[in-house]
Amino acid sequence: MQIGSIINGQERKEDNRKTMDVFNPYNQEQVATLMLATEDDLNEAVESCFETYHNKMNHMPAHDRADILRRAADLLEEREEEFAQTIVQEAGKPIKYSKGEVQRAVQVIRFASELAKNIYGEVIPMDAAIGGQNRMGLVKRKPLGVVGAITPFNFPLNLSLHKIAPAIAAGNTVVYKPAEKTPLSAYKLVRLFQQAGLPDGALNLVIGTGKEVGEPLVQHDKVQKITFTGSVPVGKTIRESAGLKKVTLELGSNSPNIIFNDANLEEAAEGLVKGAFAFSGQVCISAQRIYVHRDIYDTFLEKYVELTKALSIGNPADEGTDFGPMINEDEAERAKQWIDDAVEKGAKVLTGGKRDGTILEPTIMSDVKNDMKIIAQEVFAPIVSVMPFDTEEEVVRRSNDSIYGLQAGVFTKDMDRAFRVADQLEMGGVWINEISTYRQDNHPYGGVKQSGMGKEGVKYAIEDMTEMKFIGVKLKG
Ligand code: SIN
Repeated sequence: MQIGSIINGQERKEDNRKTMDVFNPYNQEQVATLMLATEDDLNEAVESCFETYHNKMNHMPAHDRADILRRAADLLEEREEEFAQTIVQEAGKPIKYSKGEVQRAVQVIRFASELAKNIYGEVIPMDAAIGGQNRMGLVKRKPLGVVGAITPFNFPLNLSLHKIAPAIAAGNTVVYKPAEKTPLSAYKLVRLFQQAGLPDGALNLVIGTGKEVGEPLVQHDKVQKITFTGSVPVGKTIRESAGLKKVTLELGSNSPNIIFNDANLEEAAEGLVKGAFAFSGQVCISAQRIYVHRDIYDTFLEKYVELTKALSIGNPADEGTDFGPMINEDEAERAKQWIDDAVEKGAKVLTGGKRDGTILEPTIMSDVKNDMKIIAQEVFAPIVSVMPFDTEEEVVRRSNDSIYGLQAGVFTKDMDRAFRVADQLEMGGVWINEISTYRQDNHPYGGVKQSGMGKEGVKYAIEDMTEMKFIGVKLKG
């Protein structure tokens, strides 16, 4: 399958383009050839979004935007199986998780459809200020214009929709640059929105490299906002080069999960197997650090290792597969080297640790130290470290001793303690008796520290994709 960018409704795949092949991460079969966009295409995509914003989307009634989104959700729901298979092919995500991603994506569009009709402003009590009598002040929420959405490979559909659906709900247009490793679901998604009735030029797909299209998109004067999910270094570069644009950055983390000695151990262990190893740990909120109270450390570890060893590893297309490949061999090798580096410095591998091609075994580590890469940096791989702790104060301090702060999990039956700890953790979000990896698409999602800035979660993304506009009137006395 050959695919190209879609700009103003037209696909760009002339023969003279540079190409890039996309491979299935599990069996290395070629799944697509990309006809790459150039900087000229990017400029055209922005111009077309700019025109479509001013001529159409900015004037489109909320009920029409809501209808388009509703139809898109219905179409996606009808094609759940096809989209899930596409994610399996391009990302190597096990089919059960790929289906889950499509189901979440349908919900995200439905949330956006409902919210499109509920973008409220407010009336300001102007007489609160001396001299303000006989004046009325209104605040409306207006779309921004052209939004640049740069999306990652790990949730190629749902994390794209977390940007596209709120942008459309608010009346913006979108230049969409998906990860080159997972462009197929992006391509199908843009076609699906066309079918749902979104005007040409309201969602332009540019398939290309960061250099050719990502950087010019971030710097373009007619783009009002960049919303990005990906790595910290790229996020920093975007922030530095975006000028005065609004920027939302969803970056990495090394999520802690804390298990106190009164927790339901069985539930915590089962949850954290998924929490650390779902999609081979390539999730920003994957459980990377597990702190277990010393009283229950050995019991927890025994259970945790046993459950991890029982994971079925193999072809992501098989319904029974729990655990599949990483996105490519380079990434699997990079992660393997981080394990080796920790072992050289004294860490122990309790299970896993070996690599075969793109598959890095689910790996549990102990005896780790804070300066090891597997603790200090985001592993984005199936590697989790389990560490004992003695006191609440100590575990809060150690959890916060990180450059990141996205999401955490706290397991205890003592609700006073749970809320106390949740309050002290320097995170964008904390789950009590749930893994850090759990995310629901309607809560605010976004980190503190180097985990990013701004929030997603449809309602919150809409707030970030609109601007308050004040209109005041002086009335006759
Ligand atoms: C992420 O990796 O940031 C997204 C996690 C999710 O949406 O479940």
